[in-house]
Amino acid sequence: MIRSFVALDLPDPAASALETWQAGLPAGRAVPPENLHLTLAFLGDRETAALEDLHLALTRLRPQRFEVRLSGIDLFGGAGRAVVAAGVRTTAELTALHHALGGAAHASGMVLERRRFRPHVTIARLPRGPGDGARGRLQAWISATATRPAIIFEAQSFSLYRSDLHPDGARHTELARYPLG
Ligand code: 2AM
Repeated sequence: MIRSFVALDLPDPAASALETWQAGLPAGRAVPPENLHLTLAFLGDRETAALEDLHLALTRLRPQRFEVRLSGIDLFGGAGRAVVAAGVRTTAELTALHHALGGAAHASGMVLERRRFRPHVTIARLPRGPGDGARGRLQAWISATATRPAIIFEAQSFSLYRSDLHPDGARHTELARYPLG
């Protein structure tokens, strides 16, 4: 079984800009720039054969390029697992791609978790959930840096990733990349 997900890739300049957003983070572990991504569909554990079917479906999708806008930082998640994430403007193109991926996964025999799509780019993780002190410091840091300008980029590709869990965090490996048209 392979734990996997599909994510929109961030062009290097967008990842570099997000690195500046991570500066001064008072708690948690910053996500390294090469791991920054916008999850479009979390697939969970899947057989290789199902992923191969999905891969074929994804090569046929060919969505057009579209603009993505990152603005604002949010702290979300409960006691067990919290993340610090950059907000993403929900646009028709992003939602359409999310739905298209859901359709492709369904056609490949996958039943995905039904969760509201809340697009974000996780910039730091708090694996055990922040205590009140860390939560307060994070909220203060988020407020103090609220005026940072939005990061706008053109989405150029999305990718299928495997995610291997390690004690020091998940390791993501790109299995295939799908360029936008
Ligand atoms: P996150 O950015 O909020 O942590 C790989 O785990 C990717 O899939 C992460 O970016 C993670 O989102 C996302 N994801 C979505 N649903 C998940 C779930 N139920 N368990 C783990 N990761 C999930």
